[in-house]
Amino acid sequence: MSRVELRALSKTFGPVHAVRDVSLDIPDHSFVTLLGPSGCGKTTTLNMIAGLERVSRGEILLDGRPITGWAPHERGMAMVFQNYALYPHMNVFDNIAFALKLQRRPRDEIDRRVRATAEALELGPLLGRRIAQLSGGQQQRVALARAMVKEPRVFLFDEPLSNLDAGLRTRMRVEIKRLHQQLRTTSIFVTHDQEEAMILSDFVAVMRDGIVVQYGPAQEIYRRPSHLYVATFIGKPRMGLVAGQLRAAAGNVELVAEGLHLRWPLDGPPPPALAAGEREVLLGVRAEDARLGPPGAEREGFTGEVELLEPLGSDTYVEVRRGPHRLTARVEPDSAPRIGDQVSIRIPWGRVHLFDAASERRVN
Ligand SMILES: Nc1ncnc2c1ncn2[C@@H]1O[C@H](COP(=O)(O)OP(=O)(O)OP(=O)(O)O)[C@@H](O)[C@H]1O
Ligand SMILES: [Mg+2]
Repeated sequence: MSRVELRALSKTFGPVHAVRDVSLDIPDHSFVTLLGPSGCGKTTTLNMIAGLERVSRGEILLDGRPITGWAPHERGMAMVFQNYALYPHMNVFDNIAFALKLQRRPRDEIDRRVRATAEALELGPLLGRRIAQLSGGQQQRVALARAMVKEPRVFLFDEPLSNLDAGLRTRMRVEIKRLHQQLRTTSIFVTHDQEEAMILSDFVAVMRDGIVVQYGPAQEIYRRPSHLYVATFIGKPRMGLVAGQLRAAAGNVELVAEGLHLRWPLDGPPPPALAAGEREVLLGVRAEDARLGPPGAEREGFTGEVELLEPLGSDTYVEVRRGPHRLTARVEPDSAPRIGDQVSIRIPWGRVHLFDAASERRVN
């Protein structure tokens, strides 16, 4: 069992509120990511969990026991840092063995555990090499091995892949995922890369300015973002948005925007978003939900000009512009239009995300 709970965790550095009232329940065996832009408090949160940073307010529990004031080595956690923090003058074996030697483990046990870990990470042939003689990816593996060999109750990762080039980053990402599936050790991973977060995580905590804006299963964060900030941070390409006034009229839901009047037939009562009458909203649609068609029909979308094509090989993203409005649709590469073509883009009502224009909170 290794469940981590954060209760109203806060950290101030003088006048700076680095982390404010962060409450998270990180279940046993789960892989949880703290995701957000630079300076939002990810490292500070992770360091408090590790015991490397004193807590200003709030509590940390490990399997129900408060560990808030415990020293780092008492927590049974192992951390992997962005800069690896390896000992450059030692060889790979000694780097991996370091923590076990500190614990004064018997020599044959150290030898067995270091070799088994090195085997798992394909470092066997490199055990005698010095750190300076390794590539970036190999150094990252040693950093992982050094954490793994401790057999911790919890892994903590602080942007461990951000010093690697794109290709290696993708490979190491798969490696970390595979390791987690094998070991099932509770893992808390910090990144500013939304794609990395989506691929690795069971649960994602999206942070901004020291606050967790939304915490939930990765798919839910993607499919039902609770806030405009989350909606636009997660997903590639960025969610398309149309600002306008939403209202119910004559059996339709309507969005009146600059130069646009969109209508969707309404069967049943007006949507909850309109319970208090009309409202200013941002209507969002993801590229995979928008539908491209021939120019003309203007009800559930608009006709505009193809402004940009992003061919990825497997799919092509088509950006359509009409006045100040821009939306992107995903199409099969073979059916992609050309730049300058007139096309219609249709927004299926069942797929829209609605955010209140003032509070930016989800209202559907
Ligand atoms: N020791 C410190 N003294 C003063 N302010 C600090 C200290 N450490 C962090 N901060 C501030 O706290 C806030 C959060 O910093 P933190 O390092 O947790 O962000 P982060 O999300 O990890 O960012 P990055 O993605 O750049 O690593 C920032 O405003 C930062 O300037
Ligand atoms: Mg950081």
